[in-house]
Amino acid sequence: MDKRKIKQAFSAAAASYDGAAQLQRRVGTALLQSADLANQHGTLLDIGCGTGFLTGELLALSPCQELIALDMALPMLHATRQKLSGHTNVHYLCADAEALPLADQSVDGVFSNLALQWCGDLRAVFADIRRVLKPDGQLVFATFGTETLQELKNAWATEDNYQHVNDFHDETYLINGLQQAGFRAIHSQRQHHQPRYASVLELMRELKHLGAHNVLPRRNKGVTGKTALHRMMEAYPRNPQEPTISATFDVIMVSAKR
Ligand SMILES: C[S@@+](CC[C@H](N)C(=O)[O-])C[C@H]1O[C@@H](n2cnc3c(N)ncnc32)[C@H](O)[C@@H]1O
Repeated sequence: MDKRKIKQAFSAAAASYDGAAQLQRRVGTALLQSADLANQHGTLLDIGCGTGFLTGELLALSPCQELIALDMALPMLHATRQKLSGHTNVHYLCADAEALPLADQSVDGVFSNLALQWCGDLRAVFADIRRVLKPDGQLVFATFGTETLQELKNAWATEDNYQHVNDFHDETYLINGLQQAGFRAIHSQRQHHQPRYASVLELMRELKHLGAHNVLPRRNKGVTGKTALHRMMEAYPRNPQEPTISATFDVIMVSAKR
């Protein structure tokens, strides 16, 4: 994971994010429906708040007193602040989820929608989240599982040996990581979303608008030319009866108690 590139990609996508984030909003809504928000008082932390969709929902659905919106991409935080300008109990923190600049046992609930998959060392992140949570505090997050974008990954694999799609952790890794960090009452739920796109190019465009396009080191510089891209698109699985293509998003929703 190249943090500088991840930050750059999300910063550049702050203006286009909302127009492309239908899946992220759907997952965020389902995530909050699965959480106990009615009793979520105190200070909440939204990790990787992006343009503030989940942050706004947390304000609307929970009786929290304070909310910390955290993101490492400053333009994303600006977008959240603009959206939630009427709320004086929201604090904006430009920071890395892998080094939370928060005191031990200072928050009552930690929420994160589709952001933790961008962290290099999730086990360390879980340990740090547990450190900042008060006893009995809850952690609720959604992240992507191993089958995410498998069609795109497989299509590229027919073309070259480079990694064009990020690797994602499986459910067992997440649960083990949470257990090792000391979390209890761990529940997880997996859902496959398969939105359709007019073309592979449209899928790739959407990922770019989200800031979630390939941010891996460009080890294949000069190799991924137009021909390779065209051949990859030809290899992308499609149903001859269907004019559109689909992409799999393997979503894992997890809740746990400190
Ligand atoms: C796909 S967006 C999700 C945004 C929002 N949670 C939502 O539901 O729409 C992922 C966000 O996580 C942020 N992010 C990625 N890695 C991060 C890290 N290590 N620390 C803090 N934020 C991070 C990105 O800048 C981006 O805004």
